[in-house]
Amino acid sequence: MHKVLAVIMVLCLTALNIAGCGSDGGSATTGNSAAASAVVVKNSSLPVGTNGTAYKTFLGASGGKAPYIWSIVTGSLPPGIVLTADGNLYGTPTTLGTFNVVYKVTDSSSPAQSDQKPLEINVSTLTFTPPTAGAGFYAEFCSFCHLDLGSSGQQHKDATLAQVKAAIAADTGGMGELGAGGLFPLSDAQLTSITAAIAGTASTYIAPSFTTTSLPVAVAGTPYSQTLTAKDGTLPYVWATMGGDPIPAGLSLNAATGVLSGTPTTAGTANVIFMLTDANPSTMVHQPITITVNAAAAGPDGAALYASKCASCHGALATSAKKGRTAAQIQAAIGGVGSMSSLSTLSAAQVQAIATALQ
Ligand code: HEC
Ligand code: HEC
Repeated sequence: MHKVLAVIMVLCLTALNIAGCGSDGGSATTGNSAAASAVVVKNSSLPVGTNGTAYKTFLGASGGKAPYIWSIVTGSLPPGIVLTADGNLYGTPTTLGTFNVVYKVTDSSSPAQSDQKPLEINVSTLTFTPPTAGAGFYAEFCSFCHLDLGSSGQQHKDATLAQVKAAIAADTGGMGELGAGGLFPLSDAQLTSITAAIAGTASTYIAPSFTTTSLPVAVAGTPYSQTLTAKDGTLPYVWATMGGDPIPAGLSLNAATGVLSGTPTTAGTANVIFMLTDANPSTMVHQPITITVNAAAAGPDGAALYASKCASCHGALATSAKKGRTAAQIQAAIGGVGSMSSLSTLSAAQVQAIATALQ
């Protein structure tokens, strides 16, 4: 039996006595009984363990007076698993097989009440894959009491997050076990994905993925702007980084637009892990991208070029007869003044650097 479902079944059987589990329109009734009733071990089975994989489950009781103290009457736990006095069963099983143990719960009333129950833990080589999306969570945590998603008997097709949370808070039909402090506390994100699955909106959802998987090289001291892009998912996207190297100094990422911009200050390489979330609370996708910032390319040295190419005819730079001339004027002179024709080998960048030095 599926391990989480097995324990939910217990909740459901417990709820049956009270509210009519999975019934059509039972009333909202508190599932956990009052202190005056007899203490009872709630579990009717324990999850299957996977050999060599961490195992954790809980023994639960109802009735009597909390806190409860748990102990073993007879039998041995699978090697690697221990029982704590407050009912946690955990560890990493190391031996295949079926282990039968009689568990005893003792409550805090005076005189103390107790109950005991034989339960087995089966350690197998099977692996259990937890669900990651709404329909899977529903199958795991809801369908046992509310019938399968999409089946004719499925209830609460228009349930909102607030209604489900209210039912959990009120412990309707034993649903309190899905809330904080319960055996299977579900997060708001999980509950939202469940209500989306119930409403049928989850089936069309395609998780977003990055369409930007690399970025052009940036240059220290030069303004840079690139926009990260993605497809699918449900807008709005929210952009962030998670783990990896920080974004290079001088650049910043706009969380709403995905624009990575600024003027990088330092040459280097950063392996940044970008993270994208969308309107679906359980979605989070990552894309590692290497951002390379090159050192600023050293431009031609205009003053030095002037000294070697122009000073002999037009005087030292500081007192040059050609102060204030632009690159275009210099190019025109090179093309038009006979004695300057040998300077036609100067590149446009060199002429520009000389013009800059002359300003
Ligand atoms: C242990 C059994 C059990 C489990 C597990 C369970 N429910 Fe319920 N739930 C009930 C019972 C019983 C009722 C009351 C009868 C009814 O309305 O169907 C109920 C009522 C509700 C209601 C109506 C609340 C109201 O105020 O009318 C919603 C919505 C709901 N459940 C959703 C869920 C969802 C979603 C899950 C899974 C996250 C879930 N339930 C898990 C037993 C359960
Ligand atoms: C071999 C001598 C010689 C060299 C070297 C030379 N020039 Fe000239 N240049 C001249 C002469 C002669 C003229 C025309 C007379 C005048 O305008 O000074 C001239 C004219 C110019 C003019 C156009 C007239 C004006 O004043 O706007 C510019 C601009 C100029 N030179 C800039 C330069 C620059 C910059 C260099 C170095 C890259 C340079 N020249 C190198 C001789 C030279």
